[in-house]
Amino acid sequence: MATILKTDELSEVRKDADRLNAKTHTADELMEGITALLNEQMPKYNWVGFYMLEPGANPPMLALGPYRGAMTPHTRIPLNQGVCGAAASSGKTVVVDDVKKDPRYLACSLETKSEIVVPVFVNGAVAGELDIDSHFPAAFGAEDRALIEYIAQLVGKRMEKEQTASASSRAGK
Ligand code: SME
Repeated sequence: MATILKTDELSEVRKDADRLNAKTHTADELMEGITALLNEQMPKYNWVGFYMLEPGANPPMLALGPYRGAMTPHTRIPLNQGVCGAAASSGKTVVVDDVKKDPRYLACSLETKSEIVVPVFVNGAVAGELDIDSHFPAAFGAEDRALIEYIAQLVGKRMEKEQTASASSRAGK
């Protein structure tokens, strides 16, 4: 029963994300809306935020974007640090069931027990990531991961469209 409810809940949130994608005007607005949606609708998603690669930064650096949840001391994260750095540098989703056991983990809140970080790809390259922390251990199962990867993809495609539109408007000038 619990599994059915969880599946329904996740599919509702997926539809809400699609609606947000249709009604927002920019990728930034979409990201802002996604953080609110996930933080408000998913009881175990206690901190939800985007980190985006700073354009032209050398060495590459992740900068905190829209987020919901407690203030974090980690507003900029180099790619060789943290679970966030690991996801961005490998281009792979990282799920940490118990943050205490992961030496890469950079603490944001003492209450955090588990974390998932999903890269956002734009034209095949990592442009940033969606980071979610939970006050519950092992909060991110296969269904959560599928939902969060779907949403990260929505954002990546949206950014792609925006970049294509601004490139063609520059070319037209
Ligand atoms: N825990 C992350 C840092 C970001 S905070 O969770 C918001 C990490 O280990 O990279």
